[in-house]
Amino acid sequence: MNVLITGNTGYIGPELAKYLRRTLPGARLIGYDSGYFAHCLTAADYFPEFDYDAQYWGDIRRIPAKLLEGVDAIVHLAAVSNDPMGNRFENVTRDINFEAGLALAAQAKERGVSRFVFASSCSMYGCAEGGPRKETDPLNPLTAYARSKVAMETALETLAGPGFQVTCLRFSTACGMSDRLRLDLVLNDFVACAVSSGEVTVLSDGTPWRPLIDVKDMARAIDWALGRTTAVDGAFVAVNIGSTDRNYQVKDLARAVAELVPGTRYSINTDAPPDKRSYKVDFSKYAALAPAHQPQVTLEQSILEIKAGLERMEFADKAFRNSHFMRLKVLDGHIAQNQLNERLEWTDKRHYTVL
Ligand SMILES: NC(=O)c1ccc[n+]([C@@H]2O[C@H](COP(=O)([O-])OP(=O)(O)OC[C@H]3O[C@@H](n4cnc5c(N)ncnc54)[C@H](O)[C@@H]3O)[C@@H](O)[C@H]2O)c1
Repeated sequence: MNVLITGNTGYIGPELAKYLRRTLPGARLIGYDSGYFAHCLTAADYFPEFDYDAQYWGDIRRIPAKLLEGVDAIVHLAAVSNDPMGNRFENVTRDINFEAGLALAAQAKERGVSRFVFASSCSMYGCAEGGPRKETDPLNPLTAYARSKVAMETALETLAGPGFQVTCLRFSTACGMSDRLRLDLVLNDFVACAVSSGEVTVLSDGTPWRPLIDVKDMARAIDWALGRTTAVDGAFVAVNIGSTDRNYQVKDLARAVAELVPGTRYSINTDAPPDKRSYKVDFSKYAALAPAHQPQVTLEQSILEIKAGLERMEFADKAFRNSHFMRLKVLDGHIAQNQLNERLEWTDKRHYTVL
């Protein structure tokens, strides 16, 4: 099987390749990424793209037709990948996450690619009061990022059909160690605070609910989507990815980190207005569809692995929220140096592989 993975040189891509190397040893893995964060390596034992059979550098807004030749499946990770970036680059987020994603899927279908796995997000539930959200509940996307995921899923449903299987994986918030660690994710941020300063300060009132999933369990879900059968589950599936016992209030995450990183204190900003983004999610559909691919990494394991990874890096930067561990800071840095323009295109064309 030839698998094209877009957006593979970010946080999830390196861990995904390691995982698929074990579960699909015969697969040819092809990476395609603009490389915005390719230099942001963290405690990697080797260059993560060695796990890919081929690596191309390019923009999904301009997919070379040749890239899709012989491809059986696409795992589409490439995106402007969080709310702060989506707010700063609102139109570009729609262009990359929705317009270009849809064009890629349409082109893929036309060229006989049979599977399309889309990295969607539970953030499309936005502010959800009441019980855990099921896939059939109304969506309430509050940000440009979340709206782009909703638009993409809606469009993908119309493309799915005989010969073109689509799986939208509505991931919980990611956590865990990666060869390109992000610290703009809630649990990773708390562990970094604990390791660098012995103090976790929750910036909100700590009450919002957030489901979490370790990056290794995200890879497990993608592996399921690459193997699922249309006859059983249908040509189009949108499914929440996570586990019901990993819905947490942010204050519980801070407490868990303080318990596992010796000498850490935590405090909640009781005066802060509640964060509007809060959702509990129901994962029973995923449990029914993919019993052999259920999340396995516990919260405790995720925390201890991030801690160990940061310690390997001799991490001590208390000001890391201003550092290149934050995706938005990296993009702004590229722009400040005129390497990227405001449309997030490289100014030096040598950054793009000629195919
Ligand atoms: N990390 C999470 O908590 C989480 C949760 C739910 C869904 N997701 C989704 O999973 C996917 C991967 O997330 P991640 O955490 O690895 O993000 P990331 O920001 O670390 O990686 C995204 C990758 O996409 C690439 N990219 C962005 N725009 C591109 C373009 N125009 N052309 C080519 N490549 C481009 C970037 O260079 C980067 O390597 C994203 O679609 C994200 O929305 C992530």
